[in-house]
Amino acid sequence: MLKTRLFTPGPVPVPDRVRLAMAQPILHHRAADFIPLFRACREGLQRIYQTQGPVLLFAASGTGAMDAAVSNLLSPGDHALVVRGGKFGERWDEICRAYGVRTTCLDVEWGTAVDPARVADALAQAPDIKAVYVQASETSTAACHPVREIAEIVRESDERLLVVDAITAIGVYDLPMDAWGLDAVVSGSQKAFMMPPGLAFLGLSERAQRFVERSTCPHYYFNLKKELKALPTDQTSWTPAVSLLFGLVETLRIILDEVGLEETWRRTEKLAQATREAMRAIGLELLAPDAPSPACTAVRVPEGVDGPALRTHLRDQLGFTLADGQGKLKGKILRLAHLGYYDRFDTIACIAAIEMALAAVGYVHKLGEGARTATELLRD
Ligand SMILES: Cc1ncc(COP(=O)(O)O)c(C=O)c1O
Repeated sequence: MLKTRLFTPGPVPVPDRVRLAMAQPILHHRAADFIPLFRACREGLQRIYQTQGPVLLFAASGTGAMDAAVSNLLSPGDHALVVRGGKFGERWDEICRAYGVRTTCLDVEWGTAVDPARVADALAQAPDIKAVYVQASETSTAACHPVREIAEIVRESDERLLVVDAITAIGVYDLPMDAWGLDAVVSGSQKAFMMPPGLAFLGLSERAQRFVERSTCPHYYFNLKKELKALPTDQTSWTPAVSLLFGLVETLRIILDEVGLEETWRRTEKLAQATREAMRAIGLELLAPDAPSPACTAVRVPEGVDGPALRTHLRDQLGFTLADGQGKLKGKILRLAHLGYYDRFDTIACIAAIEMALAAVGYVHKLGEGARTATELLRD
C-alpha cells in the first residue's frame, strides 16, 4: 500500500475538520441563513488580509481574481508596469494585454527579487503608468518581491495603483494590506487557506475602488462594481460556492482563532528555513537563495540527474507529489510546499523521501543528512 502525500505549493492537503464542514447540507444563498455564513467569511478575510476595506469572494481559481484586477481597474490603452520574474509575472502581462492594456515589463532573473530602484526608475520614465502589477511570492521560482518597498514608491502618486498577487503570501507571512498601502490584493483558497481550489479573493483599497468606477474594460462575470454593491448586504452577484464557504469559515477559525495568524506565519517560516538548510546539507542548490519565499522551496535538480525521473520516483514509488518547475524551469527544479496544512513531521518525511529518491536515481550523498538537519532545526 502506498500512502500518498501532496506537497505541491497549492493545492495543499485539507484538514479533516474543513472537509467535514464542507459536507453540511446546502443552503440557499438568497435565504436568511446565508447571511451569518457569508458575514463570517468576509470578516475573517478582512482579518487575514489586515484590512478594513472590502475583500470580495469569487467562485473561481486565483487567476479569476487576477483577471478581475485588470479588467475592472484599468481601461484599454492604459499603461501598466509588470514585474516579470516568473510564470505568474508573465500571467499579469498576458492578462493586461488580453484587455488592451499596454505593458512595460521589468524582467527579473527567475529566482531573484526585483530591485525596487528599477520600479522607481520605470515610473519616473513613464509617468503615465496607472498601475504596477507584482507577485508578493512568485510561486514558480519560490522568490519573494519586496512589496513593502515597492508600495512606498508607487504611493508617491495618488493616481497609481499597486496590485499584488498574494496567492502564496496571504496567510503565509506578514503582508498587511492597509499598513503597507496595497491597492488590490489577490489570493486563493487552495494555498494557505488549506482548502480545495475554487475560491478566489480580492481585497480593494479606497483608491482601487475609485479606479473601479472609471474602468471601461469589457467584463461580465467579474464585475467589481456589482460585487462591491452586493457585499455590504452579505451577498454575491452570482451563485456563490456555498460548500466552499462552509469550509472557509472553518479554516479561518483554525488560522485566526485557534493557531493565530502570527503563529501561522512563524510555523511556516520555520518549516521553510529548516527545509532550506536540509537541502544545502544534501548538496542541493536553492533557486532563490537571496529572497526565499516561505511558501515553498525550489531546488535545482543536480547535474546529471534526470528531473522527471526523480519526480516520478517520488510520486510512484514513495507517494510524494512535489511540483515541477514551470515554463523554462520545467524538469530542472523541484518545489515543495510549506504553506497550509503541514507540520514538522510532514516536512522531515518529505526531505527523507527526496533523499531516498535522489539515491535511487544515482545521486551520491550521505543519505539521511537532510532529514537529520531538519530534525535538529525543528526539534523545539
Ligand atoms: C503566485 C501565484 N499566482 C497565480 C496563481 C494562479 O492561481 P490559480 O491556479 O488558482 O488560478 C498561482 C497558483 O499557483 C500562484 O501561486
